[in-house]
Amino acid sequence: MVEIAALESVLRRTIENEELVETIANFHGKKIGYLTGGGDAPGTNAVLEGLLQVADSEDILVVGIDDGYAGLVESTPKISLFFHHPYNNHVIKGGTLAGSSRTNPEKVPIRDEEGKISKSKDGKPKTEDRTYQVFKNIENLGLYALIALGGNDTLGAANKLYNKGMKIVGVPKSIDFDYGLGYYCIGFQTAVERGVEFIDRIRTTAESHARDFVIEVMGRHAGHITLDVGVASGANVILIPEVQYSMDKVFDILKGNRDNGARYNIIAVSEGAFPEGGDVTILGGKVDSYGNPYLKGIGSMVEKELVARYGDDDMVRSMIIGHIHRAGQPSAFDRIVGYGYGVGAMELILDGKFGKLIGFKDGKYDTFDLETAEIDRRVDVEKRYDSQRYHAKMQVLK
Ligand code: F6P
Repeated sequence: MVEIAALESVLRRTIENEELVETIANFHGKKIGYLTGGGDAPGTNAVLEGLLQVADSEDILVVGIDDGYAGLVESTPKISLFFHHPYNNHVIKGGTLAGSSRTNPEKVPIRDEEGKISKSKDGKPKTEDRTYQVFKNIENLGLYALIALGGNDTLGAANKLYNKGMKIVGVPKSIDFDYGLGYYCIGFQTAVERGVEFIDRIRTTAESHARDFVIEVMGRHAGHITLDVGVASGANVILIPEVQYSMDKVFDILKGNRDNGARYNIIAVSEGAFPEGGDVTILGGKVDSYGNPYLKGIGSMVEKELVARYGDDDMVRSMIIGHIHRAGQPSAFDRIVGYGYGVGAMELILDGKFGKLIGFKDGKYDTFDLETAEIDRRVDVEKRYDSQRYHAKMQVLK
């Protein structure tokens, strides 16, 4: 305890990363690394708060790795320290204090002297495998174990590191909630809330102008956020990536509503949805280092199609919720489950249960194999989606 307190006073001065790395390497108490990768998700800092509380009582130093795996792939790691204080209140903070990136240790972009990413002839970034550097940095820092928070990419990479001998545990965090065995992914609930708030607001202008609003919702290849946002905001049509839609049928539903007296419609469309015979809309062909496309634009495509069918430019507008889903403070649920995840991750480490992740499912915390984070989790169309009405289907007791 004394040693950690002494470190804290050192760190109240601003010190360079190199000096910090050396100080930590020379600190002989138990140290664990903490990193957050992938898209930020509200509730992540509640996880940090939970693990700091256990670290404090067990005399463990928490070494934050800056910006996900990016903080471990260079010859000098980039780190920050986190301490438990009753006045910290990380629980209420959005974003991730450790910073995040979509860095894949196996495919780190090679940069030129100016820091620009080098490209090969086909225009793709040149990359190299820096897994060895990750291991070297963990060893040089003297970290006992690593806690990785993220989605299927970050946790998939964590599982690979575990299979190569690293002591690592995972925490599920992803607004998309698109992987695993149904254990909760931190951030999802807040992302749904943000979407619902967004549509609730849009309604007044939609009603004033008698305009349909097409709202593009995040969630990449899974429609979980869109489906829940659609139900909770009373959207008239919900389009998800799991079921390809017919634009003519969508229009029939919307026109039918108007013919029956509705002044406007709300259409919730998932960023990864696409029409029959079509494909997803990828912004500028962009992909990240895990090969994920950057999806954007389906909302305005649907808008265009509807305008053509109504034959009136003024009757439809589209909007993208985008990163607002992830912005701001976490919901109470994300704070509470997140806090539990932090405590649970530390318990896994203290019990020496590596290659595992902490999960919350069916109302209780449980332990799962890290490799389950690589399981794709899409909307169960049979149970939850009505492909004729393009809306949610509820089966509660079956
Ligand atoms: O994975 C979370 C997510 O917000 C997806 O819903 C979305 O497709 C993607 O991240 C956006 O990525 P970025 O934050 O890199 O723009």
